[in-house]
Amino acid sequence: MNENPLQEQGRSSKTIDPCILVIFGATGDLTKRKLMPAIYNIGREGFLPSNFACVGFARKEKSHDDARNEMKEDINEFSRVKPVDEAFWENFKEQVFYHQSEFDSDEGYEKLRKFLEELDAKQGTKGNRVFYLSVQPKFFPLIIEKLKAHNLVYNIHEVQDKWSRVIIEKPFGRDLDSAIALQSHIEKFLDEKQIYRIDHYLGKETVQNLLVFRFANSIFESLWNYKHIDHIQITVAEDIGIGSRGHFYEEEGLLRDIVQNHMMQLLSLVAMEPPVNLSADAVRDEKVKVVEAMRPFTEEDFTSFCIRGQYGKGFTDGKPVAAYREEKDVAPNSNIETFAAVRLFIDNWRWAGVPFYLRGGKRLAKRATEIAVTFKDAPGILFKHQDHKNDPNVLVIRIQPDEGISMKINCKVPGPESPIQPVTMDFRYGSYFGKSPPEAYERLIWECMMGDSTLFARTDEVTNSWKLFTPLVKYWSEHPPQNFPNYEAGTWGPKESEEMIQKEGRSWRIL
Ligand code: BG6
Repeated sequence: MNENPLQEQGRSSKTIDPCILVIFGATGDLTKRKLMPAIYNIGREGFLPSNFACVGFARKEKSHDDARNEMKEDINEFSRVKPVDEAFWENFKEQVFYHQSEFDSDEGYEKLRKFLEELDAKQGTKGNRVFYLSVQPKFFPLIIEKLKAHNLVYNIHEVQDKWSRVIIEKPFGRDLDSAIALQSHIEKFLDEKQIYRIDHYLGKETVQNLLVFRFANSIFESLWNYKHIDHIQITVAEDIGIGSRGHFYEEEGLLRDIVQNHMMQLLSLVAMEPPVNLSADAVRDEKVKVVEAMRPFTEEDFTSFCIRGQYGKGFTDGKPVAAYREEKDVAPNSNIETFAAVRLFIDNWRWAGVPFYLRGGKRLAKRATEIAVTFKDAPGILFKHQDHKNDPNVLVIRIQPDEGISMKINCKVPGPESPIQPVTMDFRYGSYFGKSPPEAYERLIWECMMGDSTLFARTDEVTNSWKLFTPLVKYWSEHPPQNFPNYEAGTWGPKESEEMIQKEGRSWRIL
């Protein structure tokens, strides 16, 4: 018999209960690119429980061995550490299984339950389950209902000797009504404690570091408010297009795909008050308060401070790329946005009057996600006679790539003439810590197995965010754009986005 590769390692100081992870949508793109490599890496680094199994659930016919071979290929292609470590893999693969079924087949769920019970007996997984729903959102209600009907998830008030948790991929709803409807459906079958709404941005090291940066350093807190901060820019720029996700994008668009969730998570972490402790609820209580305090969009905002765009053809990395309307599964006259820029305000004491400018887009000039905090100008009294650029201080938190934090300060150029010039102090994760951070999905799957939901979105975070964005989604669908495509692939988006911020006397950072 193979020895269990995880038995010896156990490098984590925290222990995870034995469990089985079942992935619905096991043949999908996310599973291939992110989930399978993540599970392998958690295992390879010794963070999986000793008694563990992973079962892929999908509609295609496939043997356990086929699934294992495909997983190995996925790891070799997409893992942050590759190629596969053969010695580890030989034993690890024995913990990977596949179960074929339609999502609506009662027989399929019955067989799954029996199969998992057999695995419990063989692998010592003790009835504990994580179900990861990496499927189209329309299947969420059905799968959760079936899991409950077939006793695959347990009532937490009746069953205490084993646990079951469900990870739900985004998007959670398409607007406020659908998010509320989805929530009321699933809470018939699951307790909130069992629901893990994933927003993978929360699993990124640099995003987690936001809390540490803000609350483990005393120097920033006294400056972190309307008295000292002029404005904050949050950018989520991607150079890639929509790839093979035409169907998804035609349904969702960038506002739902990126702004309503990933960008709002970044904004909440930057703007929240210190939590009373680091428990899941204490942290999420403070994040919710930020979203609750967001000023609703007005009619004027819709026309002047909410900009949408769609890419036309252009160049990425010097190579010609197609327009959005020419992508696979996209309508030739599609009005879906692939770019959005909005101005937001948080109407609370700390942030009174401070604009938050958010921009996100596909096929922009480069991949860069960052938060830039621009401080108010120093009074220009002392150096106004000298020929210098009095730039404001800017603190930049680079989420990816080139993860790090930099601070722009003004400095005297050496020499008698003494002009003043902005310079940058820079901290880089890569060169300081000397290793690549784990992928967000590794951290999040691990946290769910640990039973810690701090890094997952709570229902009120999601619904409050929808409350803010639903009127905009509605306005945009009722007022189709007249000028799409309105930016060339490989640029920084439509000129209206520049105009939006310039008319307030500011400009987007050049990245
Ligand atoms: C996903 C979006 O949630 O995040 C994608 O659906 C986007 O459209 C992706 O490309 C970006 O993730 P990351 O981790 O590469 O910033």
